[in-house]
Amino acid sequence: MPPRPGQQPPAPQPLSGVGAIVAVGSGKGGVGKTTLAVNLAIALAKLGHKVGLLDADVYGPNVPLMLGTSAQPKVLADQRIEPLEAYGLKVISVGFLNPGDKPLIWRGPMLHSIIRQFLGSVEWGHLDYLVVDLPPGTGDVALSLIQTVPLTGAIVVSTPSDVSLQDARKAIEMFRQMKVDIVGMVENMSYFVCPHCQHEIDIFSRGGAEKTAAQFGVAFLGNIQLDPDIRKAGDSGTPTVLEGENSPHAKSLYEFAHKVVARVDEIKSSASEGVIRIQ
Ligand SMILES: Nc1ncnc2c1ncn2[C@@H]1O[C@H](COP(=O)(O)OP(=O)(O)OP(=O)(O)O)[C@@H](O)[C@H]1O
Ligand SMILES: [Mg+2]
Repeated sequence: MPPRPGQQPPAPQPLSGVGAIVAVGSGKGGVGKTTLAVNLAIALAKLGHKVGLLDADVYGPNVPLMLGTSAQPKVLADQRIEPLEAYGLKVISVGFLNPGDKPLIWRGPMLHSIIRQFLGSVEWGHLDYLVVDLPPGTGDVALSLIQTVPLTGAIVVSTPSDVSLQDARKAIEMFRQMKVDIVGMVENMSYFVCPHCQHEIDIFSRGGAEKTAAQFGVAFLGNIQLDPDIRKAGDSGTPTVLEGENSPHAKSLYEFAHKVVARVDEIKSSASEGVIRIQ
């Protein structure tokens, strides 16, 4: 049960065997959180890490489609849940439990308990990274997650447009208020390379996330181009990073993954040194 008003929530409990828990969020919907979370998780696995992916978007779970998986996870004898395996990842999603187009209507307490269950009752085993795909906004799911486990940090996704950046700033403020480190900001749909003349076109403008990251004193994790290949690969359940680090479509996604690794190491080592960071 979530804490009642006025009641102190129990302290978040670490997930044993999991090295880092990284949430992918944004203020605004549709900016590419799931696309980046899925590609990040697979890229990390391709780079040799053990990786889990938790689809915490209980309202619109898109991870099963983007991974091309729709099986039901096994419930083990002691009511523990075995995550599915896809492209070397361990994956769990509400979409596996409730396939099809009928939405589940969640009330706050149910939301809190499914997030707790996905963390506590799933056999994640040993993981270097657990990537968590959040729904848009600064609502209940992010709050439940932060109250349940200590997050290593959060990645904030934004497009370069002013409306997306305005909402991204709110997401940064929410994580800061909840004392969650910011891994960094990433600019998605940053530019489009014309397939005919190879000119770069800034459809949603460009550079806004880097500027915002600098203003807020958070790391910038790179620009991901607007690329029809990324959209098609997501829709067909074969994410772009499967093409390998040398593919022109996947290059920026791997660069992003490398930056995430470096930032997570930085956050973890300053936490273990007991450095107090002002964010
Ligand atoms: N860099 C990109 N290039 C081309 N298409 C992209 C890119 N990033 C995301 N998309 C496409 O944009 C759409 C929205 O992306 P996605 O579902 O990842 O966003 P989201 O932030 O997770 O949305 P929601 O807030 O609804 O969870 C999808 O069709 C996806 O394939
Ligand atoms: Mg999504």
